[in-house]
Amino acid sequence: MMDHKEIKQLVARSAVDALVRSGMKLGLGTGSTAIPAVHYIGELLQQGKLHNILAVPTSFQTVIACEQWGIPLYTLNSREIGGELDLTIDGADEVDPRNYCTKGGGGALLVEKIVAYASKSYAIVVDESKVVQNLGLKFPVPVEVIPEARLPVQRALEALGAEVQLREAVRKAGPVITEHANLILDIRFPAPIDPAELEGRINEIPGVVENGLFTRKHPVVFIGHADGSVETRP
Ligand code: A5P
Repeated sequence: MMDHKEIKQLVARSAVDALVRSGMKLGLGTGSTAIPAVHYIGELLQQGKLHNILAVPTSFQTVIACEQWGIPLYTLNSREIGGELDLTIDGADEVDPRNYCTKGGGGALLVEKIVAYASKSYAIVVDESKVVQNLGLKFPVPVEVIPEARLPVQRALEALGAEVQLREAVRKAGPVITEHANLILDIRFPAPIDPAELEGRINEIPGVVENGLFTRKHPVVFIGHADGSVETRP
């Protein structure tokens, strides 16, 4: 049986082999399952098996991984990218039976969503522990908030039935500050939610920058299992 790290590598490589082709404009995700995909793309570039990849990263973590592997970096606004990508590969915290996802465990949900929604194709790579029946019950849905709006947004989320927790930093006193200088409120629901409806409703609250429900870009989901198999869910 494979351990968690091995499953993440397996599923990441399997998605890259299935979907990534030379000449693509690629969105590259964040987290412990997406980064092995970045490393593998770097390996394939160095071996000459892939060429002419244009990458748009979703976080500082991804920027650094691309720099290590010499993967050419662009932004969505670069002339070469023109605001649209061929494919984005990213991880997720939870995936439900409709392939709706919760993302943002690593705090990168804002750019992850911008990049995903600007891609023609979208692939999610997860190990089997991420597959759930209902989003938002076990793993919290992150909400990125302008600091000045922390308390009013918390009240508005509570009015939607959520339990709200300000995300605390590790090895820094106080809250997590995102890459765009915002705060994160992690919210949980006591009963199943309608992710598609909630994705829109949360973003209507003044002061919310983005939330970690991803329902508006249908991904193909690659699920890695401990027995070494990879299931593809279209
Ligand atoms: C980063 O903000 C996230 O959206 C990650 O993609 C997500 O948390 C999955 O991360 P892991 O693959 O590390 O579990």
